[in-house]
Amino acid sequence: MKIGVPKEIKNNENRVGMTPAGVYELIKRKHKVYVQANAGFGSGFFDEDYEEVGATILNSIQEVYTSSDMIVKVKEPIEMEYELIQHGQVIFTYFHFASSETLTNAMIKSGSICIAYETVEDADGTLPLLVPMSEVAGRMSIQQGAKYLEKPIKGRGVLLGGVPGVPPGKVLVLGAGVVGIQAAKMAAGLGAHVTIMDINMKQLRYVNDVMPNHVVTEFSSEYNIRNRIKESDLIVGGVLIKGAKAPKLITKDMRPGTVIVDVAVDQGGCFETTRATTHEDPTYIIDDVVHYCVANMPGAVPYTSTVALTNVTLPYVLKLANEGWEVACKNSAPLSKGLNIVKGEVVYKEIAETFDL
Ligand SMILES: NC(=O)c1ccc[n+]([C@@H]2O[C@H](COP(=O)([O-])OP(=O)(O)OC[C@H]3O[C@@H](n4cnc5c(N)ncnc54)[C@H](O)[C@@H]3O)[C@@H](O)[C@H]2O)c1
Repeated sequence: MKIGVPKEIKNNENRVGMTPAGVYELIKRKHKVYVQANAGFGSGFFDEDYEEVGATILNSIQEVYTSSDMIVKVKEPIEMEYELIQHGQVIFTYFHFASSETLTNAMIKSGSICIAYETVEDADGTLPLLVPMSEVAGRMSIQQGAKYLEKPIKGRGVLLGGVPGVPPGKVLVLGAGVVGIQAAKMAAGLGAHVTIMDINMKQLRYVNDVMPNHVVTEFSSEYNIRNRIKESDLIVGGVLIKGAKAPKLITKDMRPGTVIVDVAVDQGGCFETTRATTHEDPTYIIDDVVHYCVANMPGAVPYTSTVALTNVTLPYVLKLANEGWEVACKNSAPLSKGLNIVKGEVVYKEIAETFDL
């Protein structure tokens, strides 16, 4: 199969759909890979790295689209890409169709086969192509939180790990899912005192089993949260209820200089005062509380994010390339859940319902 890797053109997107390591695996299986010039640059991969493993570098995005049977990307196509997509071409990327009717209509019109990373689903209901980005965001939340706790950027002036004779800072993590566990792990590594809350006792038991003793689990109830936020230095929001907006867990009862990192901002956020921010201007202050609410946190660490993403997409890319999309989706239940639009027809129920199609 001919596989194309275009350069992402969405504002501030530095990730790329495939690393040279992934290209190597495809070439080994006798596929042809076209990579757009400079596609990997933002993630630290150069054209020579791709050429060395057998890719062909093409100068323009137009050439990549017209030469390929399947396009492997990161973000949803943006307007100028709509007309480049060919009838019958497989597009494997994050789409998040429910948030854009324009994109949905454009992909219906294109006649392509849209397989969305975010809806590829394992038998146990987990979303394997979303996990790595949650892992990145969870770990980053503590790195960012620790930074914004510094006084010059309006934090409480607390060093999370403390020093001999001074107790460590207190971190409250809401949600013990992928984001929450990675956040708790990082905070514990820095020596902070960590409380992690969830409504799922199974998750809390797991965390209790695997984390060191200075990570304490507590059931997530409004009463418990209210008590805990008063004494916390850094609060991380990592709550998710599938298909619903994140619950508004917190009011404004925090100490001045407390930092909140609302990772769940992309689902509406955990805090009453959350509004989405960008990497250019990541924080704002309300009631002396520093809010960090960047909706695409992994975008700040494109090298790590690209490698983490392509580690999990590659097995599916190989399957699609080796078997063709129809056989691959027939043979793989997780992959078939990724099918959102097929040659003009919306085949994913929730998206059809969202737009009354
Ligand atoms: N901002 C970003 O860049 C970024 C990146 C990745 C993920 N996210 C978002 O982070 C959020 C968390 O993702 P995840 O992968 O960890 O999800 P997850 O499903 O693995 O974990 C969510 C956890 O929240 C728990 N929960 C639900 N209601 C709760 C409540 N009332 N109190 C406490 N816990 C509760 C669930 O039981 C679950 O354990 C999602 O909204 C996701 O979209 C954001």
